Amino acid sequence: MKLAFLASHNGSNMQAVIDACNSGKLACKPVLVISNNRESGALARAQKEGIPSVHLSLQTHRDTEALDHAILAALQQHGADWVVLAGYMRKLGAATLSAYRGRIVNIHPALLPKFGGQGMYGINVHRAVLAAGEAESGATVHLVDGEYDHGEILAQRKVPVLPDDTPETLAQRVLNVEHQLYVDTLAELAAGMPQPGPQIPLGFYQQ
Ligand code: GRF
Repeated sequence: MKLAFLASHNGSNMQAVIDACNSGKLACKPVLVISNNRESGALARAQKEGIPSVHLSLQTHRDTEALDHAILAALQQHGADWVVLAGYMRKLGAATLSAYRGRIVNIHPALLPKFGGQGMYGINVHRAVLAAGEAESGATVHLVDGEYDHGEILAQRKVPVLPDDTPETLAQRVLNVEHQLYVDTLAELAAGMPQPGPQIPLGFYQQ
């Protein structure tokens, strides 16, 4: 499977997947990194790894439709089979969503459908989990549709909330689990598990 990544910031999840490709744990090849942030860690990591990378944003394109078509063109040019969102802070456009339907995955730092949606990103998610008094949080890998954090859930892994957790300590423990869960889920997809789609019941990959 040829993987393309879209990432806006640090790119630690992307790095975990790239490391798994490099070590042979994951039978995938990273072919492209796209970022909407010229200064992102993700673009720096791509350069270090020798993976083709490109900055595509509303600075490089005049509107969301032009940006959508540029993203799709880049994905197709590099032969991406799957699109891996790794902290990508924009919604994908209709052309990209339609061309890669069922082959775009995202990771979210909570147990969706709880604590997802607009505004639920970064430390906000962990603040909300603690404020709600949850006993556990976790990470979710899901297919991407036109809504934030909304598509079919492929895999979840739980992380206990500890009595003395701060949003930061919880975020770090969840992030460690995200790195493992993203690699494991992509490995299952690459190993020819049933392709995601309506035939797979919710929670098929629940663990
Ligand atoms: C992760 O928490 C991920 O779940 C969310 O954005 C964050 C990205 O972190 N979608 P990183 O850039 O992979 O370090």
